[in-house]
Amino acid sequence: MGLAYCYLLKHFMKNILIAGGTGLIGQRLVRSLESKGYAVSVLSRNPRGKNQYFWNPLKQEIDESCLSNVEVLINLSGAGIADKRWSKSRKEELISSRIGTNTFLFSLEAKMPHLKHFITSSGINCYGYEDDERIHLESDPFGTDWLSILVSDWEKSADLFAKKYPVAKVRTAVVFDKSGGALPRMLAPVKLGIGSALGSGIQQMPWIHAVDLVGIFEHIIDKELSGTYNAVTACDTNKEVTRAMAETLNKPFWFPNVPAFMMKLLFGEMASVLLLGLKASNEKIKSTGYVFQFPELKGALKDVLK
Ligand SMILES: NC(=O)c1ccc[n+]([C@@H]2O[C@H](COP(=O)([O-])OP(=O)(O)OC[C@H]3O[C@@H](n4cnc5c(N)ncnc54)[C@H](OP(=O)(O)O)[C@@H]3O)[C@@H](O)[C@H]2O)c1
Repeated sequence: MGLAYCYLLKHFMKNILIAGGTGLIGQRLVRSLESKGYAVSVLSRNPRGKNQYFWNPLKQEIDESCLSNVEVLINLSGAGIADKRWSKSRKEELISSRIGTNTFLFSLEAKMPHLKHFITSSGINCYGYEDDERIHLESDPFGTDWLSILVSDWEKSADLFAKKYPVAKVRTAVVFDKSGGALPRMLAPVKLGIGSALGSGIQQMPWIHAVDLVGIFEHIIDKELSGTYNAVTACDTNKEVTRAMAETLNKPFWFPNVPAFMMKLLFGEMASVLLLGLKASNEKIKSTGYVFQFPELKGALKDVLK
């Protein structure tokens, strides 16, 4: 009883501020943290709900009243990597919404006198696509493609905090969640019975169930972990993932692959995210004691699509 009380007290005492906490991952993380007794606030460009505070990172504006109690600061901000073609202005937005937000948050650090821990989301597509057999470790070098360089700069901006605080970086794989992200877009043709693999179909697709991603963030908060972690459950090929979706929904899966040239015509440079793949290891986060709740592709999809 005494131990349980201490455990609860510890959680009640932690104040967490989540920038970009209105998004796909943020909403789930906020709900889960609140259910465990954490005090959670969110920074948003369009605050709507309870405990949401205004900021405009581009103009460096913020409602500072949310800062004074913050102990754990999490940045989940980021315009969607695969939402639009990568025009020059879109690339600028992809950069500023990640690096600009981390930098702006760091400029406010002195106004958070209780800050103990900074956690930033990051991306798994950071190792390049040269060796598709290698299971990448966090210690591997960054790739040389545009997205790898973006992730490298994103993580460097998080390291501004590292001089004073433990910093954790969560290299996130494709999140399986029915309500947003890549999954609903992959599912749409499958539901119509015309699901097919993209390009060669043999490109690896690192994935994670949203429940496990939230679990990893909570694990990092609880254990006060620092360092870089691949948040990936497993890597299956694009064809295996699409086929597993079709099987889970009892839909046919026989259409020929969507040719790579068509993807490039439709999506330009951004098609690389869909046509190229890599493998990444989850041994590091597991070695800290994290146990995946949905370790198998079919089990994860069955849960998401139920
Ligand atoms: N979902 C995935 O599969 C996946 C995979 C790899 C990495 N990640 C990374 O994980 C983080 C969270 O992912 P998510 O799926 O929850 O993202 P999300 O829903 O697309 O967006 C998260 C939040 O970012 C803020 N945002 C969007 N555009 C912005 C801009 N131009 N400037 C400043 N803020 C902006 C929005 O907050 P407001 O509109 O309220 O300001 C939004 O709620 C992101 O950094 C994402 O890149 C996600």
